[in-house]
Amino acid sequence: MDLEQLNQRIAEIETQLSAALPKATSVDALRSLESGILGKKGSLGSLLGNIRDYPANQRGQVGQLANQAKGRIKERIEKRLGELRSADVAAERRTAESYDPTLPGVGRAMGSVHPVTAVQWEVERLFERLGFTVEAGPEMESEHNNFEALNIPASHPARDMQDTFFLENGMVLRTHTSPVQHRSMIKFGAPLRVIAPGRCFRYETLDASHENTFHQIEGLMIDENISLANLIALAQMLLCEVMQRDVKLRVRPGYFPFVEPGIEIDMNCEICGGSGCPTCKNSGWVEILPAGMVHPRVLKAGNIDTNKYTGFAFGLGLTRLAMMKFAIRDIRVLNSGDLRPIVSPMRLGGPIIAGEGMR
Ligand code: DAH
Repeated sequence: MDLEQLNQRIAEIETQLSAALPKATSVDALRSLESGILGKKGSLGSLLGNIRDYPANQRGQVGQLANQAKGRIKERIEKRLGELRSADVAAERRTAESYDPTLPGVGRAMGSVHPVTAVQWEVERLFERLGFTVEAGPEMESEHNNFEALNIPASHPARDMQDTFFLENGMVLRTHTSPVQHRSMIKFGAPLRVIAPGRCFRYETLDASHENTFHQIEGLMIDENISLANLIALAQMLLCEVMQRDVKLRVRPGYFPFVEPGIEIDMNCEICGGSGCPTCKNSGWVEILPAGMVHPRVLKAGNIDTNKYTGFAFGLGLTRLAMMKFAIRDIRVLNSGDLRPIVSPMRLGGPIIAGEGMR
């Protein structure tokens, strides 16, 4: 190829480029166009590669022609690249302008509250309507509040019933919510209406009905002329509301050092309806609400005038009630991470944690 032919070939390549450039509508297409011309095997690149085929005195001129062409072609490709990029930005801007952040989003059902929490909130709402305050106490308690203030001195055999986690700092993990009784008496005095939901801990061997971590709701009402009849009426109303059925109660004597008299309020078993099943140990009844009239020693420890006031207290087994309500047979699943196979979120009342609702 002589110099004239070379010039012609370069002109051809540049004409082809003119036709191809507007058709390259993406950065990728442009890059492959570029390598088709300037790459080693490209139409111009291969011409430069052949420079040694020219007589030595022409090589400089050939090189110059080809390099100038290369520069022009590069420049045109870069210019087109700039056009493509600014078109991209404009398109992005158009999309952004058509996005209206005030439109309502798509609600995603993320889950629901835990069954124990659902029942806890239900009970709280009910008691709040009756003028009760919802109190919380610490999970790490002093031995005094967990035992002594509740008429369980160190030597008392009742301590054995509550397998206790003793902490190295001399405190205990509370074995029940009853210490909040004492705390509330000291904090508010009488008359008094409080409930105290919370976690409790016992050194238990785990099985379908025993957990080392479980929930109770303590209830305490102190006023003039409070009697067991008030307590039983309240228990009936509470259990009927939560279970959404006509719950039958059974009242038995029960012993707890902090009440006198002490009673056990049982309800007929949700799982078998009262005919007997493993959940109720074939008795048809489930212990749900131990209770009683607050022991005068406990009132005195709380600085309450025992000549003027009496009161009742109860320790609702919140975990057990949730198990009854949602027909959960094994307590251990409640502390596990995944409740989906056990309880459908549709059955759990209360506000849904995220999203507008379950769909
Ligand atoms: N604190 C008791 C327990 O966990 C339950 C209890 C019984 C609470 C009788 C009470 C009560 O308030 O009056 O074993």
